[in-house]
Amino acid sequence: MNGLHFIPDNERIILKSPQEIEKMRHSNLIVAEILEEMKTAARPGITTAALEELAEALLAKHKARSAFKGYNGYPAALCTSVNEEVVHGIPSERVHQEGDILSIDFGVIYEDYYGDAAITLPIGHISSEAEGLLRVAEEALYLAIDQARSGNRLLDISATIQRHVEAHGFSVVRDFVGHGIGKHLHEKPQVPNFGEPGRGVRLKPGMTLAIEPMINAGGCEVMILENGWTAVTKDKSLSAHFEHSVAVTENGPYILSKL
Ligand code: CO
Repeated sequence: MNGLHFIPDNERIILKSPQEIEKMRHSNLIVAEILEEMKTAARPGITTAALEELAEALLAKHKARSAFKGYNGYPAALCTSVNEEVVHGIPSERVHQEGDILSIDFGVIYEDYYGDAAITLPIGHISSEAEGLLRVAEEALYLAIDQARSGNRLLDISATIQRHVEAHGFSVVRDFVGHGIGKHLHEKPQVPNFGEPGRGVRLKPGMTLAIEPMINAGGCEVMILENGWTAVTKDKSLSAHFEHSVAVTENGPYILSKL
């Protein structure tokens, strides 16, 4: 996800050919496979630094490069955001405890195309509040993806997320949004996780979007820690994040980053 300033305003939405979409599928499958490995590795007692090391090794195996490391000076391949951390947590020697929730956001570049996805994982047994937050965030993502259809409007995606999340008493982060993706990690359009249905550009086959709800158990306000990256909830409530890269096609949404 990007802060609202990351995407230059003068660019147009870049439509992709079916051949380009298959190249993006390849990049995103690498992302999906590495995230799958993270699911197995994310256990009580492991550090995020160890997950980072594993991600780096798997990138080398797939001959892919990190999309994030070096992006605006970001120092790692993974974003690992624990509990009240919303996004852009930096891997560290922090040891995961039973009951933590861990969001892992991961992007690659492979043969000129980007892949980007995120999951939030339970570390061991988690509280029922945390479980509900993860479930609603993932449901919001899949309901939103179902709106990524030719003829719909962009904010149909956004409104669907907001409606589902707020119906469950959670809140939607405003300060970070989803984005177009392709030969750049961040392309137009921005994809907010809130808004009015029926607004925004009309969706067309060839659009490729990273849809990424970030939702909080408490209020929607976030602040950035002193490292200049990590966003946390102001009220210290738990936060969850799920992301898929999706192509709008003649045949409906194509989830590029799903195994
Ligand atoms: Co993203």
